[in-house]
Amino acid sequence: MIHKVAPSVLSADFSNLRSDIELINESEADWFHVDVMDGVFVPNISFGFPVVKAINKYAEKPLDVHLMIVNPDQYIQQFADAGAEVITVHYEACPHLHRTLSAIKEAGCKAGVAINPHTPVHLLNDVYKEIDLICVMSVNPGFGGQSFIENTYNKLQQLRNISEMKNHTPYIEVDGGVNLENYQKLLECGANVLVAGSTVFKSSNPTETILALKQ
Ligand code: DX5
Ligand code: ZN
Repeated sequence: MIHKVAPSVLSADFSNLRSDIELINESEADWFHVDVMDGVFVPNISFGFPVVKAINKYAEKPLDVHLMIVNPDQYIQQFADAGAEVITVHYEACPHLHRTLSAIKEAGCKAGVAINPHTPVHLLNDVYKEIDLICVMSVNPGFGGQSFIENTYNKLQQLRNISEMKNHTPYIEVDGGVNLENYQKLLECGANVLVAGSTVFKSSNPTETILALKQ
């Protein structure tokens, strides 16, 4: 599978969001990664429905919505209506994960599960076939611009083995601290979706950086 690149809007210039959306539209990026934070599941608040809808209004590529919120079940339909194509919930926030994944699919979206750095991949074994995307957090969620956690490589390799064993290949996304130094190794270890926030938007030429991450 040719890997996807999903720039994280969290690192965009919110005072000029439309221009960063156009930049992603015109680049080689595949998806918009949209980070929703509630200040409860993670120690930060980002944005909610009005901003997701505003992004969707101008985005010409799918929205990959990463919910870092407690009780995501309550909001699935609203995020689907706001334009999400992928809805990713956190394993740690979902006591009834199987039900949550079913609800996401019933809302017409791809169902993703994110796992925090301390969460072992094998905990997904019994819902594996229900999952369209696994988001391996390579930082503790909540903020852009943090340093990559090295154990992520190990988790990606384990996921590749589980995918082979189960004969089911979800997207394997890596989120946090992805940069031009580590992305190739991440792909070699089995990632096929790269989320990149500060690496893209803090670079002098975001379009070129996206292109570099695609190669
Ligand atoms: C972190 C978010 C990430 C964040 C990544 O909690 O889920 O998507 O935007 O930012 P960088 O690429 O700067 O680590
Ligand atoms: Zn994210």
